[in-house]
Amino acid sequence: MKHTVTTFKQAKERGEKLTMLTAYDYTTAKLIEESGIHSILVGDSLGMVCLGYENTLSVTMEDMIHHTKAVSRGAKNTLVIADMPFMSYQTGWYDAVVNAGRLVKEGGAHAVKLEGGKEVCPQIEAIVKASIPVCAHIGLTPQSVNAFGGFKVQGKGEEAAKKLLEEAKAVEQAGAFAVVLECVPAKLAALISEKISIPTIGIGAGAGCDGQVLVYQDMLAMYADMAPKFVKVFANVGEEMKKGFAAYKKEVQEGTFPAEEHTFKIEESILEKLY
Ligand code: KIV
Repeated sequence: MKHTVTTFKQAKERGEKLTMLTAYDYTTAKLIEESGIHSILVGDSLGMVCLGYENTLSVTMEDMIHHTKAVSRGAKNTLVIADMPFMSYQTGWYDAVVNAGRLVKEGGAHAVKLEGGKEVCPQIEAIVKASIPVCAHIGLTPQSVNAFGGFKVQGKGEEAAKKLLEEAKAVEQAGAFAVVLECVPAKLAALISEKISIPTIGIGAGAGCDGQVLVYQDMLAMYADMAPKFVKVFANVGEEMKKGFAAYKKEVQEGTFPAEEHTFKIEESILEKLY
């Protein structure tokens, strides 16, 4: 079954939970698709988990297009959403449409995601008018890390909670097909999910959201630079990788790898002529 924005709409109507994971390359995208996950986010978390930056601010359009291309080649039946990197849309609706268009046309994405609430509604409206579905992202928006003074839970106080609910309604009104709620108190996220008609996708926002997203390196314990409270390790792949790498090193050094079955043969008569 091919997952599209219609999958998201129907899941919300039917009360079925949506699943989303990040991916940044062909192989992982293929594995995620084969696992039946509804949607892949080519997140700008790419900057941290793949490129080793401290935050997402250095990620470029070229980075995003390059990785989105790889993911869309690996996941033909999954909704591929590409993140719009820092400063590819904040400058205004024209840049937003041009850059969203590049992610679809060059990268092969089916939709784009951008961070922010009311202040980016003109951009959301313009991108949607260009027939590109937009997923919004509110709460902790990592591209605003400097403005927030760090990665912090959002919407805790009365004013902040009210503002977050208003932001969710605003992005819905602007035409977003879904909204990511990041690091938001669980009861507030559940309330927002009740009050809007588009699906909420939570990350650190509790089980009351209409769906969940995680960075795959986090849920597979492959990335240890940060350990957010909301991450659950579903498989200890990082440990398994290290075991595999160490076993390879040991066998190469002992001379047990490559063994006979890993090698190619040549006629002795041919070899003799080379001496
Ligand atoms: O960049 C990303 O991976 C994200 C998710 C954390 C939602 O925006």
